[in-house]
Amino acid sequence: MGSVDFVVNGARHVFDGDGNTSLLEVLRDTLGLKGSRLGCGANQCGACFVLVDGAVAASCDTPLWAVHNKSVTTVEGLGRPGSPHPLQAAFIAEQAAQCGYCTSGILIAAAGLLARCPKPNEDDIRSALGRNLCRCGSHNRVIRAVLRASGQAV
Ligand code: FES
Ligand code: FES
Repeated sequence: MGSVDFVVNGARHVFDGDGNTSLLEVLRDTLGLKGSRLGCGANQCGACFVLVDGAVAASCDTPLWAVHNKSVTTVEGLGRPGSPHPLQAAFIAEQAAQCGYCTSGILIAAAGLLARCPKPNEDDIRSALGRNLCRCGSHNRVIRAVLRASGQAV
């Protein structure tokens, strides 16, 4: 196919390179959005997760052509330092990261969950984040943070 025309965090982009380039590579190396991380590179860890038209997707395993005419949200699109997304504020309040390598992918997966299920219970959260690996073991604080972000007592 020719150019890939897509939107990232509300801004339109046209990519004229190889459409088989991974979305993660384009986000990080072409657009300079370094929040999405390369972990496994094989759709096994969640570090690279983004939302594509609202659905969680592994950007390492998504060729750019697959997002033609679609809208991508990365962790940079969730909020800003001065106006964080409720999830980002809750992660700070709960100190729900250690090294932070997995955190952007977890935030994206949690944002996808809250968009379809504004008041998830703990099982909902564990299920939605089941594909996100965290080597630091921050899982319990992550769950508290998602509950907090959804306005539920922790
Ligand atoms: S880097 Fe994409 S799922 Fe692990
Ligand atoms: S906070 Fe380090 S891998 Fe999750």
